[in-house]
Amino acid sequence: MNIILLGPPGAGKGTQAKRMMERYGIPQISTGDMLRAAVAAGTQLGLEAKKYMDAGQLVPDEVVVGLVKERIQQEDCKKGFMLDGFPRNVSQAETLDKMLSELGQQIDHVVCIEVPDEELVKRLTGRRTCRQCGAGFHVVFDPPKKEGVCDKCGGELYQRDDDNVETVTSRLKVYKDQTEPLINYYEKQGKLRRIDGLGAIDEIFQRIVSVLG
Ligand code: AP5
Ligand code: ZN
Repeated sequence: MNIILLGPPGAGKGTQAKRMMERYGIPQISTGDMLRAAVAAGTQLGLEAKKYMDAGQLVPDEVVVGLVKERIQQEDCKKGFMLDGFPRNVSQAETLDKMLSELGQQIDHVVCIEVPDEELVKRLTGRRTCRQCGAGFHVVFDPPKKEGVCDKCGGELYQRDDDNVETVTSRLKVYKDQTEPLINYYEKQGKLRRIDGLGAIDEIFQRIVSVLG
């Protein structure tokens, strides 16, 4: 099963992807995580990408398309995969369709998590992520047992550079202008599954499972 997770920044794509990975046994492919890993490693690609990420803008298509193309052909993607944060505009979606048809594959479901803007800002500015295992927390909505420490691995929790109010505002605008048109794109393909993203994390997971089976 090949899935796309669509939705604005902070909708809970990463949070739900972690649960879906366990349930469906398919890997999460997060272009944001891949780019942040390149930034942390200090590679040329990372240095270039960081400028865009800190401004809340999209990294150029050729950079992310290259990362995804390589990743989906790896062994663990043979039984399916979950794309989180890709595609981000119509051009990326068209490239993905082409790429998959060349590989004799296709997207089965596009899970679109819907959450109003005011809630997104609260979720993003309170998010904390584990440096070691990537687990996500929220200082109010999903706090770790011990402040600043990951429940799962004991790693240090940090706040993403782009989770400040100013960058969040620009990420939300970029989502509306460039990513939201994908809702229509996938609706036309009959693949869109709308999920109400308000409520408890587990409740939302159940909504997704009831749609995907
Ligand atoms: P990326 O890393 O993809 O970020 P994003 O799309 O902005 O999404 P987020 O990771 O912020 O949100 P999420 O939906 O995963 O929310 P989460 O589950 O963590 O992209 C970052 C940057 O990289 C982009 O700006 C761009 O520059 C670049 N980039 C990436 N992909 C690209 C591409 N394809 N093309 C070009 N550029 C690209 O949840 C958020 C918080 O809310 C957490 O604290 C969580 O605990 C909490 N939470 C989750 N669910 C709930 C709930 N139900 N109730 C209360 N709190 C909740
Ligand atoms: Zn951890």
